[in-house]
Amino acid sequence: MKISVIGCGYLGAVHAASMAELGHEVIGIDVDPARIESLQQGIAPFHEPGFDALLKKNASRLTFITDMSAAAGASVHFVAVGTPQAADGSADMTYVNGAIEGLLPYLAEGDLVVGKSTVPVGTAERLSELVTPTGAILMWNPEFLREGFAVEDTLSPDRLVYGVPEGTDGDTATAALDQVYAEILAKDTPRLVMNFATAELVKVAANSFLATKISFINAMAEIADVTGANVTQLADAIGYDTRIGRRFLNAGIGFGGGCLPKDIRGFVARAEELGVGEALSFLKDVDDINLRRRARVVDVLAEELGDLSGKTIAVWGISFKPDSDDIRDSPALDIAETLARSGAKVVSADPEGWKPAQARVERAGLSASLTTTSDHRAATTGADALVIATEWNVFQNEDATAIGELMAQKLVVDGRNCLDADAWKAAGFRYRGMGRA
Ligand code: UDX
Repeated sequence: MKISVIGCGYLGAVHAASMAELGHEVIGIDVDPARIESLQQGIAPFHEPGFDALLKKNASRLTFITDMSAAAGASVHFVAVGTPQAADGSADMTYVNGAIEGLLPYLAEGDLVVGKSTVPVGTAERLSELVTPTGAILMWNPEFLREGFAVEDTLSPDRLVYGVPEGTDGDTATAALDQVYAEILAKDTPRLVMNFATAELVKVAANSFLATKISFINAMAEIADVTGANVTQLADAIGYDTRIGRRFLNAGIGFGGGCLPKDIRGFVARAEELGVGEALSFLKDVDDINLRRRARVVDVLAEELGDLSGKTIAVWGISFKPDSDDIRDSPALDIAETLARSGAKVVSADPEGWKPAQARVERAGLSASLTTTSDHRAATTGADALVIATEWNVFQNEDATAIGELMAQKLVVDGRNCLDADAWKAAGFRYRGMGRA
């Protein structure tokens, strides 16, 4: 099939290459010429394991272009543009609205428009009124991919969710998307068909649940810190109950990235608009608990070092999670910036995130007190303290004795509870975890 993908960020670019992998002829469209140029050359504009290889392997079926008119002639159009957080916490719909309006002149009778972006409930209903007069059908097919596993999650998802209009249009849309995903469905992937509102809610409900799970265990970490309990052992013990499950119960400096923080805030804003804000008031606590984790690291450092002004602090980790260069709402970078603002000299190291962080640090006017590097050992030389802020394998596998020899003081604050505490203590470190003293 001939497919267009509007929006070539993490979601759209991976989706475009994955659709080509399924054998379709794909046109990826984005307004950013540099991004398109890079993708057209087969070079991933961001770090995502397996994505470069997928682009190269499917180059003959992939075209990337800035011109929306290239969507004409495709029978299925995926809309995968971003919905960033607006100043009031709600989802900024500028790009989704712009993509649909831009696409309308190129739609033909019988085309399928498939929304993938995370949107406030009610959006698909509104947009279908714009799309239907062209003879095309709109449906919503939310995406659940995790960064770092984007290719795997797109080609082998846990489930497919189709939000469809009522009546025969819904059946037609379902049949058409089944054709696009035939290879995925052949692997017995569950496929759930539902109305627009349910499909839109599935996405934000899933992310809200995940955020709540992380904040729940981080709330337990707060209690553990004042009682001498160990939150990792607590998570292991409750996680054996299959109703609870161990995944997403890692306490630490909390969640960040381009999805969970903005999605829970957007969901709260939408519920308030709908007059049911109370139903989601707990998500404000989830957000507050999460942001307190970042402050906790700074407090622990102050407990250990006193006034942080003039102290040298190495921070391992800049990206919001390992195997990613994404620094959007990264707890690691946020902590480094707070430390720099409090007068410390901070060196942040990350295998990938150090590059995008440089420009942001400059914009924030913090270049004098916060430097970024890919060399975590160099970052640690002469430091009074080491903070582990992103759990890259290369950090977890470090030799505590060798690191201790580089430092002015052997103090480690394990913001991701990912180190072997006993090994670091044996190497002479004062070890401080999150909820596991
Ligand atoms: C998330 C959802 O997982 C995905 O389904 C959705 O499509 C997009 O949002 P992603 O943003 O890639 O994916 O990151 P995720 O792996 O969910 O991690 C989010 C944040 O939570 C990271 O900062 C991570 O460090 C943190 N986290 C995760 C914890 O602090 N503890 C955990 O136990 C798990």
